[in-house]
Amino acid sequence: MNQLDALLPGATVGVIGGGQLGRYFVLAARRLGFVTWVLDPDANAPAMQICEHALVGAYDDSDALKQLAQACDAVTIEFENVPASSLELIASSTRIAPPVRAVTIAQDRDAEKSHARELGLDTAPYAVITASNDIDDALNAVQLPAILKTTRLGYDGKGQQTCHSKEDLVTAFDALGGVACVLEQRIDLKAEVSVVLARGADGRSVCFPVAQNVHTNGILDTSVVPANTDKALCDSAQHLAIKFADGLDYVGVLAIEFFVTQDDQLLFNEMAPRPHNSGHYTLDATVTCQFEQQLRALCAMPLGSVQLLSPVCMLNVLGDSWPNHGEPNWPSVFEEENAHLHLYGKAAARPGRKMGHINCLGEDADAALATAQKLRACLQP
Ligand SMILES: Nc1ncnc2c1ncn2[C@@H]1O[C@H](COP(=O)(O)OP(=O)(O)O)[C@@H](O)[C@H]1O
Ligand SMILES: [Mg+2]
Repeated sequence: MNQLDALLPGATVGVIGGGQLGRYFVLAARRLGFVTWVLDPDANAPAMQICEHALVGAYDDSDALKQLAQACDAVTIEFENVPASSLELIASSTRIAPPVRAVTIAQDRDAEKSHARELGLDTAPYAVITASNDIDDALNAVQLPAILKTTRLGYDGKGQQTCHSKEDLVTAFDALGGVACVLEQRIDLKAEVSVVLARGADGRSVCFPVAQNVHTNGILDTSVVPANTDKALCDSAQHLAIKFADGLDYVGVLAIEFFVTQDDQLLFNEMAPRPHNSGHYTLDATVTCQFEQQLRALCAMPLGSVQLLSPVCMLNVLGDSWPNHGEPNWPSVFEEENAHLHLYGKAAARPGRKMGHINCLGEDADAALATAQKLRACLQP
């Protein structure tokens, strides 16, 4: 089939990865009459529970990948750490989005930051450390305090250590197992914002409204929309995100996280070549949600409207909300008539694990945030 032919309801789409992002992709696709496949090693993963065809297998299981490619008219991913060779295998026989190159860049913090810089985006000062003897050079390039991050496989603040001295850095590098890292200057943040966009095969991008994000212990806590930063800053974040997507000839949904410095400079932090936690507000507050947009881009359909229907605050619900025995205080959530609870169907609630989220709508961003804060207090075990 020609790459630009639109796939329509009745077609079959697959997603590699069965977490919550895959689950919402499946929900969007099924709602629109598509047939869905999911590949995940865990038969009970959130997306595996609700798709028509759950394929249990490792992400590098070539038989499973071939089966997926054979069954599906198009395949996407829900997390970036799918091996490049697996993506190539799929790409050799069926349509895939996002492009393999974009995913490979997203797997490596150095590659994504270098790519951003090449396109004229600013990043925090950083240096790469692959061996102990890179440490002195890194300390010449980056001021302390700084954060040591593994270049690969980090998420939700995992694989990160703040360093205040050379001794800290030596210890942290050893503790991370001597794997390749970036040392990144710690920025005095005024705010954090993110842009989630969708770019079609025709090269046209549309950005969802900018979200203002608060992270606690490296994990996203809340995303508020509209962001409480000036419009010019939001416009320029969107402009930079589109420039980044264009530079990759990207197709699909792409998220970019930015740091906002005290003097209102936007620094590229990282990219995600897929829908993003900070875009979950679109499930209840925009005309089209990020997962339908992912499907539309994958299937070369026109992209949907990104118009905001209501101010919103997304509150993540982590495993910490589960008391030792029993369930969180759900009745208090249902008492709040402007709150939409989403749960991912994960069996085990562990501290720091993303179990669900709540989209709180409000008259304005402050009211939405106030509702989220009230619910957070209700969910304290
Ligand atoms: N250089 C930095 N300066 C200040 N805060 C940072 C820096 N790097 C990370 N953080 C904080 O930690 C969070 C998680 O870091 P990030 O690099 O986005 O890793 P992850 O891949 O785990 O999301 C950020 O959203 C931010 O709140
Ligand atoms: Mg991040």
